[in-house]
Amino acid sequence: MRRLTGTLRVPGDKSITHRALIFSALAKGESTVTGLSPAQDCTNSAQCLQQLGFEIRSTGSDALRIVSPGLTGFTAPDRTLDAGNSGTTIRLLSGLLSGQQFKSVLDGDASLRSRPMGRVLNPLQEMGAQFVWLEKENCAPFAVIGAQLHGFDFDLKVASAQVQTALLLAGLQADGITVVRLPAAVRDHTTRMFSILGVPFDFVDGNENIVSVQRMTEPIAPYHAMVPADISSAAFFMVAAASLPGSDVTLPDLALNPGRDLVIEVLREMGADITVTPKSNSCGEVIGTVRVRGGDRLRGVTVGGDRMARGVDEIPVLAVAGALCDGEFRVEGGQELRVKESDRIAAVVTNLRAAGADVSEFDDGFAVKGDTVLSGDSDWTTFDDHRMAMSGMIASLLAQSPVRIDHPSCVAVSYPNFAADLNQLVVR
Ligand code: S3P
Repeated sequence: MRRLTGTLRVPGDKSITHRALIFSALAKGESTVTGLSPAQDCTNSAQCLQQLGFEIRSTGSDALRIVSPGLTGFTAPDRTLDAGNSGTTIRLLSGLLSGQQFKSVLDGDASLRSRPMGRVLNPLQEMGAQFVWLEKENCAPFAVIGAQLHGFDFDLKVASAQVQTALLLAGLQADGITVVRLPAAVRDHTTRMFSILGVPFDFVDGNENIVSVQRMTEPIAPYHAMVPADISSAAFFMVAAASLPGSDVTLPDLALNPGRDLVIEVLREMGADITVTPKSNSCGEVIGTVRVRGGDRLRGVTVGGDRMARGVDEIPVLAVAGALCDGEFRVEGGQELRVKESDRIAAVVTNLRAAGADVSEFDDGFAVKGDTVLSGDSDWTTFDDHRMAMSGMIASLLAQSPVRIDHPSCVAVSYPNFAADLNQLVVR
């Protein structure tokens, strides 16, 4: 019987790495970042910063030294800033660049070009930012024309950490006060890092979903950031271990951000045996070890829209566990899943159906009727979405026969060594 055993320190957190790189713009001088994510997405952020005049040098396999020119010293880029597949890169840079006094063009790959950018650019326009859609409205590529920004009070309709962070980066360059109200809790890496790095901001009325900033008059001091391990990468091993009886996997050093712990919460509701041991702090995050033991068959649960923002990246792999559970695994209020690196509702439904599961699709979610087996021996289409590819590798492990993944190498977007790390834990 297959199971997963052992200890694995997954690579650095992708969201925190983007921020550790991009927030160096708020400092002037040499910052260092260690424990960096090896994700191609993060490399794209670093390369865009280099085009803006940041000097970036590797000082080890997962360490960089970044010399920032400061917010007033950027160089106008002489070619397109290519975010590749990375929504975080293009959206955070849109906010950062909207207050700069030069024009830049931002673009990405086919998947990124199909994702909505109006959710960031339209609110930025309320602050006086100027943009031009270069091909299709609401989509990359677009030009950011530097402008003088003024503060605005935003009541966001979409619970997005990327949109919130972009607006705060613009607000730090704007006249007056910028307030960003979120409709629900999201990953709060940005305000945690702002606190640690000394970037001034306030929680309005003490509410952590309402953040205000003003123009920064002085750069923050250069910093050293130690990036913890990525819970979204660890999620795949958590699901596999929870689903395979006899498994015992320990995942140390994880950032236990309350805006990203849906995977632990849902697996526990499904009956999984999970221990979480907080150990230290880094980048403003609580860092801890998660141990998952596989036991009885998991049971079905419903995940509603109120907690979706805490697990948009983990729902696909949770759905794989759902296909094997007792009862039904159901996702509702998950419209955001349709505008990720792929339409994750359609992708989950297509692939689990092909693998033999009984799945219904709704506009805002899906329902998988759990069964004792997932037959597999089917095609698994990644739609070039790294999280669908890794979910396929977990489905392959849990199914009676493996699935055939069409483009497994797209895992490099977040976790290039995923297959080898998984193999290291699997006992056959
Ligand atoms: C991210 C936020 C999430 C997440 C993405 C990374 C971030 O997107 O899906 O992978 O680093 O802020 P949204 O903020 O758009 O939900």
